[in-house]
Order: sequence, then C-alpha cells, then structure tokens
Amino acid sequence: MTHPPVEEQTEVTAESQPIRGDRGASILGPRNIPLESENPDLLASPYTDAGTIPNLKFSFAAARNRLLTGGWAREVTARELPVATTLAGVNMRLKPGAIRELHWHKEAEWAYMLAGSARITAVDAQGRNFIDDIHVGDLWNFPAGIPHSIQGLEQGCEFLLVFDNGNFSENETFLITDWFAHTPREILAKNFGVSQSAFSNLPKDVDHTRYIFSGKVPGRLTPVVSPAGAVPVKYSHRLLAQTPIRVAGGQVRIVDSSNFPAATTIAAALVEIAPGGLREMHWHPNIDEWQYYISGHARMTVFASGGKARTFNYQAGDVGYVPFAMGHYVENTGDETVRFLEMFRSSYFADISLNQWMALTPPELVQAHLNLDQQTMAALRKDKPVIVSPAGKQG
Ligand code: CO
Ligand code: CO
Repeated sequence: MTHPPVEEQTEVTAESQPIRGDRGASILGPRNIPLESENPDLLASPYTDAGTIPNLKFSFAAARNRLLTGGWAREVTARELPVATTLAGVNMRLKPGAIRELHWHKEAEWAYMLAGSARITAVDAQGRNFIDDIHVGDLWNFPAGIPHSIQGLEQGCEFLLVFDNGNFSENETFLITDWFAHTPREILAKNFGVSQSAFSNLPKDVDHTRYIFSGKVPGRLTPVVSPAGAVPVKYSHRLLAQTPIRVAGGQVRIVDSSNFPAATTIAAALVEIAPGGLREMHWHPNIDEWQYYISGHARMTVFASGGKARTFNYQAGDVGYVPFAMGHYVENTGDETVRFLEMFRSSYFADISLNQWMALTPPELVQAHLNLDQQTMAALRKDKPVIVSPAGKQG
C-alpha cells in the first residue's frame, strides 16, 4: 500500500502541523484533522509543557448518549475521565412534559439549568417537601439520599447535573418503578393497605423502569401541603439573579454553602471571560476542580510541580479537570465570551491568586526569587484580580 505524496495533502494548514519554530515536522501518516484542530496545544505543545500528566479533558460529545422516549442523558464520570474522582457530571435533556423518574441516589445532586425550564420535587426525612420551577441559570441541590424528580415544562429543558462522587453512574440510581417491579405483589398490597390487583397496571417496559419518559406538561405549580411543612432550606437557587463580581476581564458568580445553604458538599463559580481575557494564575487550597464549558474557546495549562505542566484546549460541552492544588489559568482564545463552571466537592469556594500572594509578600523576598524589575513589582495587585484583560486594556 502506498501513501499519497505529502504535497497532495493541500487542506492541511501550517498551524495544524506539529511544528513550533525549528522543532517538530509535518505529519505523514494517518491523522484526524478535526480532532487535532480542536487540540492545537496537544498537537504542538508550548515549550513550557513537560513531563507526564493524566488526561484532563473529556467532551460530552465523546460520551455515550442514552436515548429514551422523554429525551436523553450522557455522563462524564471517573470511567470516562479517570482522574476525576471527586465529581461526576451528567448532561440531560427532557422534552416538554417529559419526566426524569422519581428516584434517589447515594450522592448529592447539584444542577445548572442550561436551557428551558423544569419542575423539581423532593421530600426530606422529616416529611417536609419542596416543589419549584427552575429556569435558565437556576440551580438545585438535592442532598444525598433525598428522593426527587425533574419534569420538563412547556419548552422542555437541558441541564448539567453534578454529583459529589466521580464514580457516580446515572444508570445506577434507585428508581421507584424498579423497586415496585422487584417487590412481591403481596408485600406491595400489605405496604399500601390495598389489594394486589391495584398493582396490575405497573409499567411493563423492557427493564421495568421508566427513567426518562414522555409525559404531559404540568399545569401551574400547586403545592402539596405537608403537615410537617416545607423543607427549611430551599433546594433551589437563582444563580443569575446574584450580582456578579465584575473585574477587568469578565465577571464571576460564586455559589457555595454560604449563599446556597443546601449545597453543603458542592461549591461552584460561574466564570465569564471576555475575549482575550485570562482567569488569572491561581490554585485551590481545598480540593480538585471539575470544569464544564458552556460557551467559547479556552486553553488551560496545569502546573503539576516537579517540572511538569501540560496545556489543554476546551470548548462548549467539554469537561476539564485540575487535580488538588495544581496551579492553572484559563485563557479565552476565541472571539466570544468563555463561560464555564468551576466545581468543587467542598462546602466552600476558595482560590489563591499568584499575583496577590506575591503582592502581599515582602518585595525583596519576591525579587530574590524572580529578578523582577521595579515596574513589574509595582504592577502586583494586593486585591485579587480573578480575571484580567489583555495588557493595556481595561474591561
Ligand atoms: Co437525581
Ligand atoms: Co481554578
């Protein structure tokens, strides 16, 4: 078998070749140009990248999608992205009226509404209930073990679910129909104080469960009154109603147990970076970071100590990951706003700014390490920049 001569590969552009300056060479063998184009910093990594680092990227586009009558669901867990042991994510779509079956699981569930709206329900161990309608940019958080449901409203919806265990599986939740199907009829009759014939119409789907199934769009929200009252801590939160922290290169909304008390195990920041802007060099002193990219194009270099660093490219629908304490930045490399979620299995959000750390340390000590000139020392910021804009520009 002969390969076509190199000069016939005309659609290959110079920047999609693994060449940087006098290093590298064109690819002669098989290649996947779309995938290489999405990952230019892997194809030709910066000179500053070095050493062996686990994979820190997995796209929902590469995850198996489970299609059902009411919509679909796909997950990125520790099975898809082995380094991601702290959190797992599920991207789910419900058609108008479609129902994510009444269920519970061992993990807490945190969610961000991406499009459309849904009605959620839950009941806690004290018999207190919660029913609410959720719109774009709203969150919910169901504590571990609390039973709940999700139903699409008029336009249907799509959302991101995040669970506080990387090994979570959306296919292993406790479903109400599954339990009914695996309980003797006489026990069901005894439990509910009715005759066995009351259960002759239980669903007879292939696997005896419904999971995500079509339904009728529900009417106006009518409360189910519990004698024990409603849950004392709301399971929903209007994240976009929160005033963002506005900085030179964009804005950020931080949500954790301090302003969303139900979210005791998952903290998040919704970060928006203007074109050319940079989520500054920083790290998190508490735990790993799980990222979900909602819009735009970005790149991140993760510094892993011991001379190791690697750069990854991300776009809408990608999941990124930063192991505990590793230094990183996120740069907007495109011409639209990069919007992404930073998520942490923690009751609180925390980050350390490289810039602020240096500014609040005796300058002679900092200079002794890095030989920085006076102008650069004077540019250090005692406040936290969070997101910076391109040099010379103020946002
Ligand atoms: Co759930
Ligand atoms: Co971070």
